[in-house]
Amino acid sequence: MSKAVLDAVKPVTGDNMFINKIARLDYALEKVYQPYMRVDHALTRKIVSFQANKTVPFYRWYKYKEGFSARLVEHYIRKHGIDTTKKLLDPFAGSGATLFCAGDLGIDALGVELLPIGQHIIKARNLLNYFSNDNLETLMQWKNEKPWIKRKGEINFTVLRITDGAYSEENTILIKKILSCMQRENEDLKTVLLLALFCILESISFTRKDGQYLRWDQRSGRCWGALPFNKGEIRNFNDAMTEKLEEIIQDVKGESENDLLDFVPLSVKKGRLSVIGGSCLRELPRLEENSIDLVITSPPYCNRYDYTRTYALELAMIGVDEKKLLELRQEMLSCTVENREKDLLSLNPAWISPLSICDNHELLQKILEYLYAKKDNKTLNNNGIPRMVKGYFYEMARVLYELHRVLASGGEVVMVNDNVRYAGASISVDLILSDIAAKIGFQIEEISVLPIGKGDSSQQMGIHGKEPLRKCVYIWRKK
Ligand SMILES: C[S@@+](CC[C@H](N)C(=O)[O-])C[C@H]1O[C@@H](n2cnc3c(N)ncnc32)[C@H](O)[C@@H]1O
Repeated sequence: MSKAVLDAVKPVTGDNMFINKIARLDYALEKVYQPYMRVDHALTRKIVSFQANKTVPFYRWYKYKEGFSARLVEHYIRKHGIDTTKKLLDPFAGSGATLFCAGDLGIDALGVELLPIGQHIIKARNLLNYFSNDNLETLMQWKNEKPWIKRKGEINFTVLRITDGAYSEENTILIKKILSCMQRENEDLKTVLLLALFCILESISFTRKDGQYLRWDQRSGRCWGALPFNKGEIRNFNDAMTEKLEEIIQDVKGESENDLLDFVPLSVKKGRLSVIGGSCLRELPRLEENSIDLVITSPPYCNRYDYTRTYALELAMIGVDEKKLLELRQEMLSCTVENREKDLLSLNPAWISPLSICDNHELLQKILEYLYAKKDNKTLNNNGIPRMVKGYFYEMARVLYELHRVLASGGEVVMVNDNVRYAGASISVDLILSDIAAKIGFQIEEISVLPIGKGDSSQQMGIHGKEPLRKCVYIWRKK
């Protein structure tokens, strides 16, 4: 065999050894948790994603792509049998599906969300639950009269490198005019009008949210990549804004054709909702012990999705500048290749215990060993992957430790998450996180698997074949 062939074979042999070892450890862990794993046919992809919210009043306004459905939250609240004296928490609140569903059922709920866009959606929706008739009247005038069109004044908005050129000249002017026009209204109205603007930004822009980044339409003149991309219709600002206001008004007045999930609330009074803006890694340690009865959440997946890029249009509109954007990216739970290691022990010295659980986790360590070896061999398509995977589990271990601390005895965590695959190694996020949770002290109740495994990224598919990846809902109980 020539040296060239041997060189080509060597890393493959090494990889296979690692992958076999990872697969064996994975199999052993799967055997431990097999009694709790079951395919749940009620868990359709639609109900576990934002899709089921698309026609639901209130939830339909802003398409938070990574959100889950209110129906899913309702299912688990009822399953847990919680009553209105109890309190719910979502440490990765996003656009607030967990909070609003709990609130509508009559249960108090607290959320933590890092990104100002999610915080704003929650704040505005919460205001609309108690909107005055006068404010609603003014909102209707906005819809009917479109006062921004004739507005002389303009207010500039922040432009980031990754949002530069996102709108046509005409739409840019209309955005500036509407921002100026909002200034004459009271704070509540401003908050709601800004929400309506956020809801239409993507549709009036040259971009499309694509998980890891904003994808640019060829009409922007900012199109990279081999194939020109056309996102289809770019909405006219005035039409999009008027329709969004109409949708909001209809839902607030209770005139929508679709019912609000045909909810039977547990109480006539809505639950109180609050959201803390910031990282749950910083905020959870500040919450009181045993103060929460149920956690329903979906953290970022370990899939390289970058929320600070996907939601850059909205973040810029809120005034997030380049510096703040980088800070937010680093504060995010590590889920992108750009996340640097966080100094977690200086955040909380008590976290030595989840740290040592991760350090001693055989499967996790073997996966990391493999990925770092691939990095050293220069055979990874991105060198940030090992650091991201490590950061993901080490940070999640801290989050789970804190959730265990804040939950009252008998309290549960319900978590939606996806497995991932890097460099041919399947990473059973469900088994590893459940195992860490068990070592922290949780009782594993269920690992419900969605019926059809999720595919893989197209890049990976070509190289490693089509082994489906599990998407699951885990339920862990504090003993
Ligand atoms: C999968 S989404 C949650 C979506 C939510 N379930 C919904 O229905 O809208 C994950 C969320 O976690 C947020 N996030 C990421 N890192 C965070 C951190 N360290 N602390 C708090 N929130 C964080 C992201 O901004 C994102 O909104």
